[in-house]
Parts: sequence; C-alpha cells; structure tokens
Amino acid sequence: MKVLATRRYPGDAFEELDDVEVSQLAALTQPRADVEALILANEPVPLDLLPNLRIVANFGVGYDRVDVAACAQRGVVVTNTPGVLSDATADLALALILATRRQVVEGDRLVRSNGWAGSWSEGGLADEVTGSTLGIVGLGRIGSAVARRARGFELRVLYTQRRPVDTDLAEFRDLDALFAEADIVTIHAPLTPETEGLVEKRRLSLLRDGACLVNTARGEIVDEAALIAELVTGRIQAGLDVFAHEPDVPRELLGLPNVVLTPHLGSATRQTRAKMTRLVVDNLLALERGEPALTPVPG
Ligand code: 8YV
Repeated sequence: MKVLATRRYPGDAFEELDDVEVSQLAALTQPRADVEALILANEPVPLDLLPNLRIVANFGVGYDRVDVAACAQRGVVVTNTPGVLSDATADLALALILATRRQVVEGDRLVRSNGWAGSWSEGGLADEVTGSTLGIVGLGRIGSAVARRARGFELRVLYTQRRPVDTDLAEFRDLDALFAEADIVTIHAPLTPETEGLVEKRRLSLLRDGACLVNTARGEIVDEAALIAELVTGRIQAGLDVFAHEPDVPRELLGLPNVVLTPHLGSATRQTRAKMTRLVVDNLLALERGEPALTPVPG
C-alpha cells in the first residue's frame, strides 16, 4: 500500500512502512492515483487529488480539520489515536495548573533577569493548589486522567459535559455552575460545532476573581479575544497550550505575567509520540490485511 505521510512521524513503527513518501500536503498539486493511505496530523484531506485513497490515519486524537463525512462518502476510513496520549496530555494540564497557579514561569523570569532581591513578595503571593476546586470541561479519557491526578492534590473535582455519567471521579455541574464555582477550569473537550466558542465573554465573566483557565484541548473552544480582554485586566489567570490560529499566538498575551504559554505540547513526549505512530501504523497494517481499522472515528 502506497502511503503518503505529511512528515516523518516519530518512533520505530514508521520504519515498518515499506512504501512511504514524506511530503507536505501543500506540495500536492497533481492527482496521485497511486496513494492509498494518508498519514497526517489534523489537516484537511485533499480528497480530489487522491482518487484511490482508502485510509486517512490521523496522528492525534482530535480530527476537527478532517472532513470525516466527505471521507465516509468516498468510502475512506478515518482513524485517530485515542487513549495513548491521555496521560501525557493530563500531565501537561497539571503542569500548566501548577506553573500558572504557583508563578513558576514568572519566578523563573525574575531569577534569570537577576531581579531576585530576597524573599518573593513583589509579584504578590499565589493561591494554593492543594485543596482548591478544579472544574473539568469534558470527562472523557483525558479529563478522567486529570481527575485521577487531582486526587493527589486533594482537589475538589467538578466536571461538566453534555450527559452526566456515573462516576466517583468528580461531581457533575452544568457549565455555568462549574465556571462560577471552580478555582481552576481545565478544558478537555473535542472541537466540534457545539464546543466552538463555548467559553465566551459571558462564561468567562462567571469565573471567580483570581481563577485560572487551562486549555490543552483546542484554541477555538475559547473566544480568544474575550479571554485576552479578561486577562489584560489581571482578574483571572490562564495556562494555554493551544491557540485559535496556531502557530500564531496573539501578541497581547506575550507580556502578561498571569499567563503561561506552551506550544501545543500535550502529547509531545518521546513515549507518547512513539505510541501514537505505532497506532497510526497498526491501523494501516490492519486495513492492508483486510481487517477492520483498530481505531476508526465515527463516520
Ligand atoms: C497533535 C493533538 O495531534 O491529539 C491531538 O488531538 O492535538 C496532538 O496530539 C500533535 O501535536 C501532532 O500535531
């Protein structure tokens, strides 16, 4: 099976593909009848240029830029990589919570600039993480992994999602109540037409003074302009790994002390990325053997 991959994906599994061409999709200008499999990372699929495509294997759990309905109509299977990146992403959410809450980056900047004059007080004291209330938007695989970690910090954990589930990990609240009650809100929902702009001006205004918003899911779930407007007042804090127009980060965020910014690092560990590639390749190999794909997304 001829495979087109938008980059050399990390991990040994990629080397098992015997007929793979690495090329960015922008370079694809002529139809390619030979390509049967496409490996990409949440990018639009040029279906018109790939008439014999059988599978799109998405390197990532989120596939909001892949037109799954158009693929299904053409009989193209779409797969993603659920599960294998939940722990790494949950770890990063906790890292952003701790870094933002405990002024880790602000403190680091002070030390590096030789501005540390004695005991820390100039930046104001932080709010304690231990014992505070965490609100999880989306208690799926990643949200649940965050909830399990939160136990170690003795956090009171709330969650919201379309349908409440039977769980002892967290207490259900509707979205507005969760925003009003939590000290820290962390987003773990997929980007869909329902979640796009879910966190908008009114909802942000429900956050308590000094509350912290963490986003390791998708930038488009938050109204970025409304978030910036809240952040510049210093009323709330944010730990952001994702942005609406990556890799562009709004300039207004860059100078704010109450914000910690990371470049979409959620799944970016050697171990997790290798597992993601393994799952991508296993999906391809299953299809090649005439078996169903391992992790197809609902069509
Ligand atoms: C990216 C992600 O796919 O899984 C997701 O939904 O956003 C990430 O894992 C990864 O960074 C590759 O671009």
